[in-house]
Amino acid sequence: MNCKEDQKVSISTFGKEVCQGLSAAPKYLSSKYFYDQIGDALFQKIMALPEYYLTRAEYDIFKTNASAIVQSFDKNQEGFDLIELGAGDGKKTKILLHELQHSHYDFTYMPVDISQNAIDGLVENLNQEMPGIAVKGQIGEYFEVLDRLHHMSDRKKVIMVLGSNIGNLLHARAIQFLQKLRQAMHEDDLLFMGFDQKKHPQKILDAYNDPTGVTAAFNKNVLTRINKEFNANFDLDQFMHWETYDPETGTAKSYLVSKKEQTVHIHDLSLQVNFKSWESIHTEISQKYDDDIVEWLAEESGLQILDFFTDKDSDYKNYIMTKTI
Ligand code: AVI
Repeated sequence: MNCKEDQKVSISTFGKEVCQGLSAAPKYLSSKYFYDQIGDALFQKIMALPEYYLTRAEYDIFKTNASAIVQSFDKNQEGFDLIELGAGDGKKTKILLHELQHSHYDFTYMPVDISQNAIDGLVENLNQEMPGIAVKGQIGEYFEVLDRLHHMSDRKKVIMVLGSNIGNLLHARAIQFLQKLRQAMHEDDLLFMGFDQKKHPQKILDAYNDPTGVTAAFNKNVLTRINKEFNANFDLDQFMHWETYDPETGTAKSYLVSKKEQTVHIHDLSLQVNFKSWESIHTEISQKYDDDIVEWLAEESGLQILDFFTDKDSDYKNYIMTKTI
C-alpha cells in the first residue's frame, strides 16, 4: 500500500488526500469530500430529517429573534454589508433579509460561494422573491473574497457563518479559521456564527444516525466519489456508517467501518488499500460546544463575544463577536 507520488504526472488535492488518508494508520478521509452534486442533495435531505435538529433550531432562533438580531447588526444605523460564507439555499437567511427590508435597514447582501452556479441560483431566486434587496453575489474561496472586500471598502461588515459549519473543524483548525476571519475585519465589523451546543448525547447520536439511512449514504458518498473519480472498486455494502459522541469533549465522530477483510483497488492512484475486518476510516467530526469552549475559541482568535441568541431548548446558539481591541 503506497502512494507512488513520483509516478503520477499530476494528481489533484483530493487524490493526494485519499492517498495520505487511506495509507495512514488509523485511516481517515476528509468530510469536505462528501460534497458533490449527490452529496449536496443528500445534505439537503439531512437538513429536512426529523432527527437533524440543527437546521430547525437555527431557523427557530431567527424566527423568534429576527428583530433583535438585525438590530444588533447595525446599532448605529450606519449601513452595512451582510457577507454570508457558504450561503446554501438561503432559507434561514431570508428570515433576516425580510426583517432588514421590512425595517428599512441600509444593507447589501453578499453571499459567498466557490460555485458560480450556486451563487447565480441564489441571486436569481432573491431577485424574484425579494426584488427590493441589493444582492451582490461573490464567487471565490472564502478568504480570497474576504480579503478583496476588506481592501475594497470601509463599509461596516457583518460576516455570517451559519449551520455550525465550524463544527467540522478540530479546535486548532477552528482557531485558524476564526483568526483569518478576524484579519478580514475592521474594528467595528461583526461576526455572526452558529455553534451547535452540547446536549443529551442520545439526541446528538440520533441526529447523525437516522433510521432512514440518509446520513449513512452521505458518509459513504466519499467512497462513491473515489470509485467514480479515481476508478476504484469500493463495495459500499461492505462498509457501515458508525457514529460516536463523547460528552466530555463534545465531539461527534463519523466512521466507515469495513465489515470484512477486503482489498480495494484505486486504479488511477495506483493504490491498493487493505482492510482488516472491522477496521475503520474516520470521515467527519461534528463538534458540539458550550459557552466556555466558544469563549476560549474566541479569545484564542482575538475575538470577543458581544451577545448570543438561542432556541427554547438551548440546543443551538448564534453568537455575535467582534475584534478584541
Ligand atoms: C455541514 N455540517 C455542519 C454538518 C454537521 O452537522 O456536521 C454535516 C453533517 N454530517 C452529517 N450530518 C450532517
